[in-house]
Amino acid sequence: MSTYRDMVLAIAGWGPLTRFARQRGLALGAGRFVAGERLEDGIRVAHELADAGRHAILDLLGEFVDSEEAAAAMTDGASEAIHALAGVPEPRRMSVKPTQLGLGISTELALTHMRRLARDAAEAKVLLCMDMEDHPRVEATLEILETLHDEGHHHVSTVLQSYLRRTPYDLERLLARDPVPELRLVKGAYREPASVAFPVKADVDRAYRELLERALQGGGTVHVASHDEALLRYAQQRRDALGVPRERTTFQLLYGVAQRLQTALVAEEESVGIYLPFGSDWYGYFSRRLAERPANLAFVLRSLFG
Ligand code: FDA
Repeated sequence: MSTYRDMVLAIAGWGPLTRFARQRGLALGAGRFVAGERLEDGIRVAHELADAGRHAILDLLGEFVDSEEAAAAMTDGASEAIHALAGVPEPRRMSVKPTQLGLGISTELALTHMRRLARDAAEAKVLLCMDMEDHPRVEATLEILETLHDEGHHHVSTVLQSYLRRTPYDLERLLARDPVPELRLVKGAYREPASVAFPVKADVDRAYRELLERALQGGGTVHVASHDEALLRYAQQRRDALGVPRERTTFQLLYGVAQRLQTALVAEEESVGIYLPFGSDWYGYFSRRLAERPANLAFVLRSLFG
């Protein structure tokens, strides 16, 4: 989508840099985007967010695990987090990444782990979302969602990315379901080839608006996840013009990003969710945040050499 983003993501994947960053820990600057390394940190910040009129979307960091043991351990960690969320005011939300539950090993394994988490989430009155990862995982993630919905787990949802060329078809596929699943709409954060994703940002932004319009008309709850203020204002305007009730939209932003916008939306009595990662495996998430904004990279470099 942009040379800057591709470059940062490519450099971030370089082994020696990965090791150096992990040694330096959250002090490297990741603490701005991550609640902390422990579950207690995530729950503490979730309470702080609730006090500030927002709700947390808790996320246990970790992705692309490559062994069944690691996937099982991640599932245990996510299950523990779901139960800990039961003490936080509603709405309670948790996000998981299919590859942390073993999607890279098999769809069946990830489905088994998701099914367990869906049951835990129902017990704890937590709404559970599967993040959308890179394009080879999209089909399997949608299939897992469809299976869980067929089994009655309507509190489970997923994400669609406007940069992917396939997304309008995926949206129609979800809108055809009864009930329509909740949906988080994002621009997309991974490094994708032009064969599957729009390389030009203006096309990604235009696609987002078109998808949003269709999703608002589609009858389900739409989570508008972005820091693009013009886009969020557009979403409010279209929602109101279409007569969609406010309860059918929320605005979701990342922890540590666009604070002024977060505060403004709360003041307007919008439902504001803050994606709140915690855990020791923060490097991949952190790299994507740096890739989104040169100022974030400058901040890290200043903290290292300043
Ligand atoms: P855009 O990139 O156009 O940025 C708009 C403005 O926001 C920028 O001008 C800048 O000022 C500010 N901004 C954006 N990113 C920033 C940052 N990191 N730091 C500081 N300022 C920043 N992606 C994905 O592929 N799968 C997923 O499941 C999710 N889930 C998800 C949940 C939530 C709650 C959010 C907010 C985002 C995601 N994403 C995601 C990430 C998403 O795809 C996208 O990469 C980021 O949101 C950045 O794009 P924006 O929509 O903010 O717009």
